[in-house]
Parts: sequence; C-alpha cells; structure tokens
Amino acid sequence: MNALEQRYSGKVALVAGASKGIGAATARAFANEGASVVLLARSKQAIDEVALSIRERGGEALAIQADVGDERAMKRALDSALERYGRLDAAFNNATDGGMPAPLADLDIEAFDRSMRTNIRGTFIGMRHQIAAMLHNGGGAIANMASVAGVNGTSGLSAYVAGKAGIIGLTKAAALDYADQGIRINVVAPGPILTHHLEAAGAQVQQQAALSTPMRRLGTVEEVAAAVLWLCSEQASYITGAVLPIDGGMTAGTKLSMNYRRDQPTSAGGGLTDLAVPASGPS
Ligand SMILES: NC(=O)c1ccc[n+]([C@@H]2O[C@H](COP(=O)([O-])OP(=O)(O)OC[C@H]3O[C@@H](n4cnc5c(N)ncnc54)[C@H](O)[C@@H]3O)[C@@H](O)[C@H]2O)c1
Repeated sequence: MNALEQRYSGKVALVAGASKGIGAATARAFANEGASVVLLARSKQAIDEVALSIRERGGEALAIQADVGDERAMKRALDSALERYGRLDAAFNNATDGGMPAPLADLDIEAFDRSMRTNIRGTFIGMRHQIAAMLHNGGGAIANMASVAGVNGTSGLSAYVAGKAGIIGLTKAAALDYADQGIRINVVAPGPILTHHLEAAGAQVQQQAALSTPMRRLGTVEEVAAAVLWLCSEQASYITGAVLPIDGGMTAGTKLSMNYRRDQPTSAGGGLTDLAVPASGPS
C-alpha cells in the first residue's frame, strides 16, 4: 500500500473482540494502513498472537486482555491504551456472544443475560470510555458491530437478534448525542461472513448461507474490515448514525429471480417489461 493510501498513519485504533475472525482481520487492516492498534479480547494468548503477527509485518500493536462487559477491566484497558499511545481516533466494538440457537421459550435466562451482557452492555461500556478518550483529543469515529439479524430478525436467535437490534439503537442515540462534538458513530450489519463459525458448520450450511444472499456468495472478513475502515476514516466525514449493510443485498428486499427472464431482452434493453407474464396472466 502506498503512502497516499495510509489513511490511519499517526492514528490510534482500538478493536474489541480482536482475537479472531472479523475483529482480527480489522485490526490487521488498521495496522496495514498505518494505525497503532489496541486489541482487546478475553483470551490474552489469542490477542498476543494477532498482535505479534501485526508487529512481524512492521506494524504497531498493543494486546490487552479485557471482557467487554466488565466496566473496570474496560476502563483499565482504555487507560493502558492512552498511557501507551496518548490518544484514540477510531474504535470498533465487535465482540459478541451469539449463544446456542433455540426457539424463544426454550432459551434459558442465563444464556439470554450472557448475550445481553456482551452485546448490549459491552457495546455501551466500550463506547462510554472510547467517547471520553475521543473528546479529549477533539474527535474520532466509532463503528459498532450489528448483523442482518438485528435488522430483519432471524429464527432461533432471539437473544442475539435483540442484542444486535439494541446495538443499532445504541449507535443511533449515541451518534445524535455527539454529532456536534466531532465524534461519528455508525454500525455495520453483515450477512453471512466466512469465519470459523461457518467453517465449522460445513460445506452444506455454507452453501445454504451463500444462496440466502442475492449475490449468492459468502462475504469475507476483509470485505467487512474494508467497510469499517472506510466508515471510521475522513472519507465518511458526513456520515453518522448510519446502519451499513455488508450483506450481498440480503436486506435490500426480495429478489424475484424466478420470473425475470434474462434470455428475452426487450428492444429497450431490459426493465419492467422483462418480467415474464404467465400465458394465462393479465392481458
Ligand atoms: N461471521 C458472520 O457471519 C457474522 C455475521 C453478522 C455479524 N457478525 C458479527 O461479527 C462479529 C465477529 O464475528 P466473527 O464471526 O468474527 O466471530 P468470532 O466469534 O470469531 O469473534 C468474536 C470476537 O469477540 C471476542 N469476544 C467474545 N466475547 C467477548 C467478551 N465478553 N469480551 C471481549 N471479547 C469477546 C471473541 O474472543 C472474538 O475475538 C460478531 O459481533 C458477530 O455477531 C458475524
């Protein structure tokens, strides 16, 4: 990447939930574009490995063990980050507890509480400390992690859906609170992304997930990271409170692929007249 593309040179970016998957890829992407990166997760060993891989490529990274739902641990983590780097410019709140799928009445209350603790409380606590740090250095940008499940709902995942929908609400409210103080806060809502969850589920589930998107493929962690970096960069300077789908068109609506005939283009080259009307249909 050349110097012009180093959007985060001299900046500090924090990724909560950075030990694997989308979080690790986003931490690497921030580092590739010049940021000093603060990595948070519960497993010290796992984030140490991601931080080491960033340093081996010439980047700067600090790994701090913290549970996002633990207020004191998160305050300590932010204090350590500020002590080391002196500022915070971008933050990505990505940690989640998805829980085991079950219909609502079968979901146990402890599992519901655990999911809320990481998703809602964790995002709330993360933003509190990140906003305080960003106000100190005159501004910054936060991206939160939701999901298409928080936009449309998904069966069997009521706690996860409520948590992700709540993160969208938290994002919008916080964006309004700080819109005139130089802090932009947005949320990304991915569709099916190929991480270890889908890898472990096997080829058949991966194919079903891919076919559930209008683009008929899974997203990559790099595609999510690219969107997060863009949202947190100066290139998105007039965007706050937005929900950005990264979902191959999943939340755009219903794709009527069954009655659209590409093989019979009109003289105008396409459009509504390409809709195939059954022989017995309206005259
Ligand atoms: N993979 C997908 O298809 C997909 C789709 C939509 C949204 N998402 C969201 O993207 C995010 C990352 O997904 P992923 O597939 O990379 O999952 P993942 O399980 O690989 O990543 C979650 C990260 O959060 C960390 N984490 C979990 N609980 C934590 C806690 N209490 N404190 C600190 N860190 C904690 C984990 O250690 C891990 O680093 C999640 O929020 C998920 O809901 C994923």
